[in-house]
Amino acid sequence: MTPGKIYVAGHHGMVGSAILRRLLATGIPDERIIARSRADLDLADQASVRAFFEAEAPDEVYLAAAKVGGIHANNTYPAEFIYENLMIEANIIDAAFRSGVKKLLFLGSSCIYPKLAPPPMREDALLTGTLEPTNEPYAIAKIAGIKLCESYNRQYGASHGIDYRSVMPTNLYGPGDNYHPENSHVIPALIRRFHEAKAANAPCVVVWGSGTPRREFLYVDDMAAACVHVMGLDKATYDRHTQPMLSHINVGYGNDVTIRELAETVACVIGYKGAIAFDTTKPDGTPRKLMDSSRLNALGWRATTGLEDGLANAYRDFLKSDSRRA
Ligand SMILES: NC(=O)c1ccc[n+]([C@@H]2O[C@H](COP(=O)([O-])OP(=O)(O)OC[C@H]3O[C@@H](n4cnc5c(N)ncnc54)[C@H](OP(=O)(O)O)[C@@H]3O)[C@@H](O)[C@H]2O)c1
Repeated sequence: MTPGKIYVAGHHGMVGSAILRRLLATGIPDERIIARSRADLDLADQASVRAFFEAEAPDEVYLAAAKVGGIHANNTYPAEFIYENLMIEANIIDAAFRSGVKKLLFLGSSCIYPKLAPPPMREDALLTGTLEPTNEPYAIAKIAGIKLCESYNRQYGASHGIDYRSVMPTNLYGPGDNYHPENSHVIPALIRRFHEAKAANAPCVVVWGSGTPRREFLYVDDMAAACVHVMGLDKATYDRHTQPMLSHINVGYGNDVTIRELAETVACVIGYKGAIAFDTTKPDGTPRKLMDSSRLNALGWRATTGLEDGLANAYRDFLKSDSRRA
């Protein structure tokens, strides 16, 4: 049988582009990979998505397209976050099923877990409590994505041989990140701030909060490797480690760092020699956010890129993208 085509949805994004790199690195030839820019295919448009799947008939799908953003964007555009994410997932998963896609991997996020889920957060914490209000619309859409996969498997798995899986990454960083001054996550924001402070010879960089909250960070190429690993597991193995209505898999680094340690590591990687101060009048958020990745570890995968190496790669990418903008 000739190997089929693989569609990567969201291939211009940080994760989608890393999945593309990973697939090519594992020896998948270019011609087996399908990708479309948003200008050519709006994934929120059902008719276009169905037509695309009918025409291309991929065998496998990596669903890494989504509307993604930090607290500010989630708070300002809640309608867009729930609507676009629900539409993208529902359109892709249903069109994939209709066109005969057997294997699909849906990417969610650690924000699916309740605000007070005890760390490290296990997969079975899903739907056990109230979500963090700031990104609840986004989280509800991501939970719906998991449930779409599970429901299609339950209804059509046996009759149509489909196998749709979900992975929930922790905070990601690396090449292709968003370095927008207001709309970025903590690592790209710190990279920009320390880079600018170094260039300006600033004596001190002030970081929001006390510096004591602990967070987990995973390098995006590790995430892509985990995606390809999970997609490649045989069905019996995947089924043995999951349940039909609790089928998602956490993808974390395995341990966390304080925001102070993170800021110091970013400063060191960038070569910023000034002081670091913490503005304790600013909110800290939850004290600790760490995922339990033992399900994935038991399935034979763990992260390999340490924070310092990952940050050095991310900074190189930031410098390149900065020179592209200049
Ligand atoms: N970044 C993180 O820290 C993180 C953490 C946990 C989970 N995740 C998950 O990982 C996945 C990918 O995230 P990411 O960080 O790679 O996000 P990203 O860099 O913003 O990439 C998302 C991609 O989706 C595309 N897209 C969005 N709406 C579309 C539409 N209507 N039609 C066609 N394409 C559309 C975007 O296209 P344009 O380039 O045209 O905008 C972009 O290429 C998401 O499901 C996210 O929830 C990310």
